[in-house]
Amino acid sequence: MPDVDEVNDGKNFRINLPAKSNVFFLKGSNSLDWGMKNRLARVFNPITGRTVMLAFDHGYFQGPTTGLERIDLNIVPLIPYADALMTTRGALRSSIPAESNKAVVLRCSGGQSILKELSNELVAVAIEDAIRVNAAAMAVQVYIGGQHEHQSIRNLVSLIDAGYHYGIPTLGVTGVGKELVRDAKYLGLATRIAAELGAHFVKTYFCEKGFERVVAGCPVPLVVAGGKKLPELDALTMAYKAVDQGAAGVDMGRNIFQSEAPVAMIKAVRSVVHQDETPERAFELYRSLKNERHSAGEDLHLSASRTPKVQ
Ligand code: R5P
Repeated sequence: MPDVDEVNDGKNFRINLPAKSNVFFLKGSNSLDWGMKNRLARVFNPITGRTVMLAFDHGYFQGPTTGLERIDLNIVPLIPYADALMTTRGALRSSIPAESNKAVVLRCSGGQSILKELSNELVAVAIEDAIRVNAAAMAVQVYIGGQHEHQSIRNLVSLIDAGYHYGIPTLGVTGVGKELVRDAKYLGLATRIAAELGAHFVKTYFCEKGFERVVAGCPVPLVVAGGKKLPELDALTMAYKAVDQGAAGVDMGRNIFQSEAPVAMIKAVRSVVHQDETPERAFELYRSLKNERHSAGEDLHLSASRTPKVQ
């Protein structure tokens, strides 16, 4: 038992100094509870306010797509360079080292395949399992204008409500069916609906015209998907334009893991997102990192034997 005689009363209360009250760094997130903010601060870098999310959840409806044949070989070596991992619980448990300590944005909707109608999803993960794997956020697809729009919105709101019980934020993912045009009008509609229904951040696509209006009209942070594989300079240019016009980062998959040099590419993407590097300079970085590995005689396609230590 502590000796009460030795307990000193505090004296230095700095009475004339008002208590500090922080404004949370992410747009639209100041009224959230501490746990939600803490998790969002793991997904987004509090210094830059941005994130490089590495997306490799494609298998949940596409199966073993190019570049994701072996998550242990293709993705694990990229983990040290990502801020957050967008993945399924199956990939996480089977292939991702628990020591990786990166924020996990857990894919929580599913239930269809590329062989069927894409918008026909359900909630595919119980909130308890998201907690069990220590998810920093849950991701759910919303198909505005899609055949199963209503059902996908129901999936979104049910996960948001479950997440509020435990302080886990939800990422609304705007799923755009083939029949819909990815223009500012459509993306503005879809992202705003997701945010108004309570999504804490929203994943969307970049569009050449009017993207700033999409960002301004969405009251929570937006991250952009990479989309189909582009030449590296084009992908870096897209990422640059997106963050320059207000996106809070990228959720990029194929343009990283399908690149000829995935580590060089994710490092180049980081330089754009976190250091405002121009696309040209980031591409130079990509090329020099790629060439370094070439001249060292290394295989640009990663192998587990030289997986860097995961931090
Ligand atoms: C789609 O399967 C997923 O939601 C992906 O996470 C998303 O499309 C981002 O990946 P990519 O940059 O390859 O489009």
